[in-house]
Amino acid sequence: MLPLIVSGSLQATTPAGVVIDLVNPDNYADQPIPDYITRDNTPPNNPITDRGATLGRVLFHDKRLSRNDTVSCSSCHRQEQGFSDLAVASDGVSGTTGRHSMRLVNARFSAEQHFFWDERAVTLEVQTTQPIQDHVEMGFSGLDGDPGFSDLVAKLSAVEEYQVLFEAVYGDDGITENRVRRSLAQFVRSIQSFDTKYDEGRSTVGTDGPPFPNFTAAENRGKQLFLAPPGPGGGAGCAGCHRPPEFDIDPNSGNNGVVGSLDGGDDFTVTRSPGLRDLVGPGGASNGGFMHTAQFATLEEVVAHYNAIPAVVTGLDPRLTRPGGPGGGGPQPQRLNLSAAQQSDLSAFLRTLTGSAVYTDPKWSDPFDGEGVLSLVVLPKESIELSFEGEGESRLATVSMTAVPNVGYLFQWSDDLSGWSSIPVTADNQGAVEVEIAAPESEGRAFYRFAYLPQAALE
Ligand code: HEC
Ligand code: HEC
Repeated sequence: MLPLIVSGSLQATTPAGVVIDLVNPDNYADQPIPDYITRDNTPPNNPITDRGATLGRVLFHDKRLSRNDTVSCSSCHRQEQGFSDLAVASDGVSGTTGRHSMRLVNARFSAEQHFFWDERAVTLEVQTTQPIQDHVEMGFSGLDGDPGFSDLVAKLSAVEEYQVLFEAVYGDDGITENRVRRSLAQFVRSIQSFDTKYDEGRSTVGTDGPPFPNFTAAENRGKQLFLAPPGPGGGAGCAGCHRPPEFDIDPNSGNNGVVGSLDGGDDFTVTRSPGLRDLVGPGGASNGGFMHTAQFATLEEVVAHYNAIPAVVTGLDPRLTRPGGPGGGGPQPQRLNLSAAQQSDLSAFLRTLTGSAVYTDPKWSDPFDGEGVLSLVVLPKESIELSFEGEGESRLATVSMTAVPNVGYLFQWSDDLSGWSSIPVTADNQGAVEVEIAAPESEGRAFYRFAYLPQAALE
């Protein structure tokens, strides 16, 4: 059997980055989701596909989506921070964002269709190209001397990897805003986290109410506080807005009394929160400050806020108020009167909503190497077949492979890995490719690979 160099082992011999395998893509479409998770904002016309989310992954991590090649979505939504940012305000191409970045974990699993802190994007699809067209964030705004979205389309259309990727996903290499939106939304919806202590308990017990056997006593007490409404029973009422088991936000929430703004003014418009999963990372450190202002560094500060809402302000959700006193007057801000121990229990419960794979799974990671190079190897070695005929000088090797239909690739071979010979090939309508090359002198010492590599990476 001939040795074949594919995927990871390529990196030793080429400057190419992580391998994107379009024939055996990572699993985005069919990830396990607990059966008690029912809320899902996926529109019928944009289900997650493995190839679509793979394209989304590349776009998400590509700095070329910003006007000066310095900022990608992942600059402000970092995998190691639950796809949020430790910075209070994130750096864009010109200045910093007006609000704190939002975690993207489990963005799919909500009844709410609207996105952003103030719900201004009517769907996730619509949301995804707004940062690109934002003057501060990525700079293709088309205003004030910025290039416009059509300039980005022209820029990406000239990139060979995107010709291959769009062809593979959409059947031709045309790049449109709609296709960019669809792929980015598929990738964002694929980012999920269910390997948490909470989910372990929830799936064992089957419902939220009873104590979870895998929880500490403090976590179980915190769970009760989270679930129970405020009032005589003494709950904290969190579940009224952050609804388990998804922990998505009630689409009808008002604001929660955090009404400041990073520029010092007021902001009464924030009525959405990311889901409460992965507020802290697996090590227990916060994934950035909390709220649209990032004004609370810890969960304890968050709980202290709800324990004593500072004031009744414009747009405050009535659930965070209590009736006025006997002397009349309007509603008063909520006072939960939780003891220090109860506040600590509630924080302990919130920490059980953190998973681990979402921080490390390579399928959500940056596919570019340090030089910004991506390599797309489309064929696993099992799908390459070799046959030989003839003798001596005229001995030939026929190599048969399956690839993305109608896409051009490079077939490469090497006797000793010190250099590669290559010929361009194009897969037919069915994706079949066949090449005939001079056979190596010794069958055992030849290496073959079949890849799409950006031309520049090979020179
Ligand atoms: C310069 C930093 C920055 C960049 C770049 C950026 N974002 Fe964001 N993102 C933010 C901030 C800040 C918010 C919250 C903004 C607001 O609500 O006003 C946000 C919000 C979001 C949300 C809403 C989440 C929710 O639960 O409502 C999504 C989804 C998102 N970004 C995806 C993306 C994608 C996709 C890209 C790349 C095309 C991107 N972001 C680029 C900073 C950034
Ligand atoms: C009336 C609805 C409502 C209730 C009840 C409520 N929240 Fe919230 N929560 C919100 C809203 C709205 C936001 C976003 C506020 C902002 O950023 O200004 C939010 C934000 C948060 C955040 C920050 C999320 C992030 O990504 O930064 C945490 C944590 C949180 N709430 C925890 C709780 C806890 C714990 C309780 C119970 C003590 C609770 N909430 C009760 C509406 C509510």
